[in-house]
Amino acid sequence: MNAPARIHMQSVAKKFADRIAVYPLDLSVAKGEFLVLLGPSGCGKTTTLRMMAGLEAPSQGAVHFNGKDVTRLRAGERDIAFVFQMFSLYPHLNVRDNVAFTLRAQGMPPREAGRQASDILLRLGLESLANFHPEHLAGGDQQRVGLARALVRRPQAFLMDEPLGTLDGDLRGEMRETLRANHNQAGATTVFVTHDQEEAMSLADRIAVMRDGRVVQCDHPRNLYDNPADLFTAGFVGSPGMNLIRASRTGEWAAMEGLDLVLRVGEDAEADDIAQLAGAAAAASPEAGFWLGVRPENVLLSESGAPCVVDQTLVLGTHNLLSLRAGGGFLKAWLPAGVRFREGETVRVSFLTSGCRWFGGPGGLALPWRTLEAACRPTR
Ligand SMILES: Nc1ncnc2c1ncn2[C@@H]1O[C@H](COP(=O)(O)OP(=O)(O)OP(=O)(O)O)[C@@H](O)[C@H]1O
Ligand SMILES: [Mg+2]
Repeated sequence: MNAPARIHMQSVAKKFADRIAVYPLDLSVAKGEFLVLLGPSGCGKTTTLRMMAGLEAPSQGAVHFNGKDVTRLRAGERDIAFVFQMFSLYPHLNVRDNVAFTLRAQGMPPREAGRQASDILLRLGLESLANFHPEHLAGGDQQRVGLARALVRRPQAFLMDEPLGTLDGDLRGEMRETLRANHNQAGATTVFVTHDQEEAMSLADRIAVMRDGRVVQCDHPRNLYDNPADLFTAGFVGSPGMNLIRASRTGEWAAMEGLDLVLRVGEDAEADDIAQLAGAAAAASPEAGFWLGVRPENVLLSESGAPCVVDQTLVLGTHNLLSLRAGGGFLKAWLPAGVRFREGETVRVSFLTSGCRWFGGPGGLALPWRTLEAACRPTR
């Protein structure tokens, strides 16, 4: 195998006619790292990956592989395997030959290429399809064969654009595990594009979250989940995303003095009036407002907490996912499966102190109010 690549994109941007698809971005992928580009449709993931691969020329900036400037090198000269969002297999070749073809094109003797193709088909659980022609395969199987065709190679880097896109449910989960296991074994640098946050969280060493042509946060999955850099990431990552409660500078429970904050949240951080909080949320003006972010698992049942009305209950085995009406807004809460909740009943909830996050300012950026204690006391 070739040594895994260290990839660095330096101020790389792409403009199509008068539309900016990717704003200047800096992104580094370590040797052997599994980096996921995550974001909603149209945010520039494919364009970024294609520039990394040499399939698209950047409008500005440079791409380095192992410290060497490859910006002007075409994809074929970069020693990468690219898996396309849409791809096709050779219709006249059976599955094994489709996979072996890539190796034979590189000059490997047919016997050895066939052996290595059989190997990867076995690893991906596709050995029973080896003699089939593509027209006899279901869409999902075609996609898995497409992946096998890429994984059979030993390039410096794998660049994959939504390779599990058309697979559903269990098969998708299985392929994720296979991909990650294959990565752990082969250790090649991998950049993987998806718009599915759960897929990103389960695969990545690090995730680069993209929005509107920019990377808004690049971090380890756990840190991305615990400390989202802005409101967008807070809402996008997690299923469901963070509860985002709009807070205003007026009202009984909160006030701002300059950048300092006084919060009427109990000493053990019980939001003693969530209804008012959510109600004030709706009324707050954009300039003065800030946001409290709290994940559904950090909404806790508490007798001294705020009353909320159960709007919907989703029973999911280990937990219940509740939608609670609080003031003018809604809160999602993961609550224990052992407790039965009736729609329309009132429950009292509070927030886990260490799980509270704050966002504000024009971009809805994370505010460094790490603990509610700090947030509760005004500094002068
Ligand atoms: N060849 C092109 N010509 C003009 N505009 C383009 C071209 N390729 C992409 N774009 C535009 O650039 C933006 C980013 O596209 P890109 O395909 O990179 O997004 P994406 O994040 O991969 O989206 P998706 O999840 O839908 O695949 C989009 O607005 C898209 O319409
Ligand atoms: Mg795309």
